[in-house]
Amino acid sequence: MDAYQHHGKQFVSGTWTTLLQSARERLPEVSGPHRQLSAFLNIALDKTDDRYDYRSYLALPLLPIPDPDRDTERADRLLARRDRFHLLLLSDLIAFEIHALDTMQAPLPQLRPDPLVVRKRLRHASRSAAPALRRLSFDVHAVGDPVTFARRLIAMTSIDRSSDERLTMRTTMLPVSTVHDEYLFIRVLQTFELTFGLLAGDLTAVTTAVAEGRLPAAGTRLTLAATLLREAAPLWSLLATMQPEAFRTFRTHTDGASAIQSRAYKLAESLCRTPDPQRLDSAAYLSVPDVCARINHGQLSIDDALDTIRADHHALAETPVLADGLRHFAAAVHQWRRTHYSLAVRMLGTHQPGTGDTPGTPYLLHGRDQPVFSHRNASNREQGIP
Ligand code: HEM
Repeated sequence: MDAYQHHGKQFVSGTWTTLLQSARERLPEVSGPHRQLSAFLNIALDKTDDRYDYRSYLALPLLPIPDPDRDTERADRLLARRDRFHLLLLSDLIAFEIHALDTMQAPLPQLRPDPLVVRKRLRHASRSAAPALRRLSFDVHAVGDPVTFARRLIAMTSIDRSSDERLTMRTTMLPVSTVHDEYLFIRVLQTFELTFGLLAGDLTAVTTAVAEGRLPAAGTRLTLAATLLREAAPLWSLLATMQPEAFRTFRTHTDGASAIQSRAYKLAESLCRTPDPQRLDSAAYLSVPDVCARINHGQLSIDDALDTIRADHHALAETPVLADGLRHFAAAVHQWRRTHYSLAVRMLGTHQPGTGDTPGTPYLLHGRDQPVFSHRNASNREQGIP
């Protein structure tokens, strides 16, 4: 890990990667479970293997991204696990930033930001952590100075960290470069992935609830999902402290890794409404073959479930809590897409292609205002039509 952070994945010497490759070849000879080690080696060697993508860039196989196919625990437990890792990722980022303020020896020394930018960054990181801290009953009293508050936050969250969690934090930071701000970029994307995974689970539960006629429960869960997505908004302010020059510098090595390949995001999107054939047959879904397969095998969306209900009676109109849930969630997604688009334009402009084989921000502009639910009631309300 030290060598990877010292050189950047793109520039790790062949001596290292050859050794790692032979270690990987010998894994079958080793007895005992080595799923994590095998996943780690595949991530570390993605560039060498020519398999580099978004999942390997962010080391997603090593993170507990909630997955509705696998995680069937109660909603409160899933939220608590997501909150814990949300905090671990943010406090690791904060620790990195403070370490770089304190010493010249911190890794990723290129294009260090101005201390004033770091203070702003620490303030937004602490704000991003606040809701999860409250839910997990950490006693946080805001103090004026962002550095003092950030130091306190690290101290609090490091006390009961297990050795597995420490290892996860250590092995999920494999930047392609030695540009300081890439650390921020990776941790923020990982944090969003945790939230998308949890949302995909919420939306699966909503589909089931609608199909079973438990409409108020579906509405409540949608409103909670909307709250979670809105809560993630300070992560955008945090990422906005990234220096555009830093982004442009490390981005030259991230081609082929794009969040267009995010399984959790596309799962969540398609659980709201089955995508139109044109979108299904474009880079948007061709980049997530697993989600495409689910849709082609008849994945039920919230829209589909609502259509069935509507065929029977006007349940939606009679269940305001569900109509509210649909409206809140759609509004939260639209807000997310608008902020994403604005930041992407700020960092990238309107003429640079994306790293996911799209024209870049024009692709995002096209998708930005697409309806989240196509259901007549929902989409009218989404657009503020009574
Ligand atoms: C510097 C900040 C960012 C820039 C410049 C940016 C830019 C882009 C671009 C150009 C695309 C189009 C696909 C492509 O790469 O060719 C895209 C897609 C996407 N980005 Fe970002 N992005 C940024 C931050 C984020 C963050 C923090 C997330 C959170 C995970 C995110 C999630 C997504 C998702 C889910 C898509 C796919 C959208 C779709 O297919 O409709 N992006 N981004």
